Amino acid sequence: MMGIKPDLLCWHVVFFLYFCLSLASDIATEIADYADVAKRIIDLAVFGAAQNRSYRRLADFTDTIGNRVSGSENLNMAIKYMYNAMTQDGLDVHLEPVKIPHWVRGKESAVMIVPRVKNLAILGLGSSVGTPPEGIEAEVLVVQSFEELKHRASEATGKIVVFNQPFVSYGETVAYRAYGASEAAKVGAVATLIRSITPFSINSPHTGWQDYQDGVKRIPTACITVEDAELMWRLSKRGQKIMIRVTMAAKTFPDADSFNTVAEIKGWQHPEQVVLLSGHLDSWDVGQGAMDDGGGAMISWEVLSLIKDLGLRPRRTLRTVLWTAEEQGGVGAQQYYNLHKVNISNFDLVMESDLGTFRPEALQFTGSDAARKVMEEVVKLLAPINMTKLETHGEGTDISPWMQAGVPGQGTEKHCST
Ligand SMILES: *[C@@H]1O[C@H](CO)[C@@H](O)[C@H](O)[C@H]1NC(C)=O
Ligand SMILES: *[C@@H]1O[C@H](CO)[C@@H](O)[C@H](O)[C@H]1NC(C)=O
Ligand SMILES: *[C@@H]1O[C@H](CO)[C@@H](O)[C@H](O)[C@H]1NC(C)=O
Ligand SMILES: [Zn+2]
Repeated sequence: MMGIKPDLLCWHVVFFLYFCLSLASDIATEIADYADVAKRIIDLAVFGAAQNRSYRRLADFTDTIGNRVSGSENLNMAIKYMYNAMTQDGLDVHLEPVKIPHWVRGKESAVMIVPRVKNLAILGLGSSVGTPPEGIEAEVLVVQSFEELKHRASEATGKIVVFNQPFVSYGETVAYRAYGASEAAKVGAVATLIRSITPFSINSPHTGWQDYQDGVKRIPTACITVEDAELMWRLSKRGQKIMIRVTMAAKTFPDADSFNTVAEIKGWQHPEQVVLLSGHLDSWDVGQGAMDDGGGAMISWEVLSLIKDLGLRPRRTLRTVLWTAEEQGGVGAQQYYNLHKVNISNFDLVMESDLGTFRPEALQFTGSDAARKVMEEVVKLLAPINMTKLETHGEGTDISPWMQAGVPGQGTEKHCST
């Protein structure tokens, strides 16, 4: 994957502008009057003293802390790190307690033993149960869809079900990772190995969250590589018997104490009104969590830094929330919503960056026609960074409770993929 382009984080500008506006009748004129302010923010972020700052912050954060899985000591360290860093930056920071899942991967391995011996690269899925210490050894049933599993239900008893579903899109194909274990358990499988949810693989399994259904036996579940899933599919098409031994020491502990990390600059005119921007501090346990979602967290902080550095005072409160336990299903965000929805009429816009932080192409926005009219004017101010497109479908796990309740939402921008 390409590196981050820290010089082009137009979010800063959009966030601030949206929220400077007092919605006068001649919106277009009023917004155009902010061209100057927009230019100052862009100059500072892209060409000035703050050039590359969010990248340097991200590098220091990930180099210092490393990965930050829900319930881990690293995640606690990450929260302390950000609390201190944003406080030193002169921002108004506080922590809001949340109970979060605590799952530990433990040692894990898998080996194909029939028709030939081959080690399989696996990554257990978050919340998976482990196997007995000696592992589970069983014959394999390879299927390409839930449909096929249904048709071949009678063949699944006592087997390890391997899902070799083709990749369509993350949003669609992720159902196999999320529900594969319970679907296979319903027809008597003893474990599941699921092709990683990705269009590319260099013998690289992915991890992620999975959901056990209530009342269904919990069986161990892990992702395998695209290559190994296809290998076993080809073998099974030829009628060859496949045996695998999978060993996983995964364990779930009681819920752990954690926090959403909140920093803000109070609005001078409408301090009770909030424009919320966000990313999540937790990550999975097998990478650095730089893309997912260190970048989103750092640019959400950088917005406040830029406003402060320029001595700008927003009309409404500009609030950055760094969520905890997003990967476990938006646990921190859900709790934040439950606690603060009493003030929902004061939330003007909620934003999230959790799809990587590259060179932006467009803003994705969901809201009323009136709100869209405002955003259409705001993006015009982003001409200096060549990003004036406004698209539909603002979305994100952590802001979805607000958006479902009708608050305008802005997801990640679209990014160049090359
Ligand atoms: C920012 O990063 C770019 C690309 O790596 C580099 O050319 C530029 O000199 C950096 N600027 C600063 C102030 O570090
Ligand atoms: C709701 O908003 C009021 C006014 O800004 C504030 O004092 C109060 O703390 C808020 N309540 C919650 C739960 O956020
Ligand atoms: C915007 O596009 C113009 C023309 O392609 C280019 O010269 C300029 O460097 C771009 N600006 C930024 C900030 O990327
Ligand atoms: Zn994420």
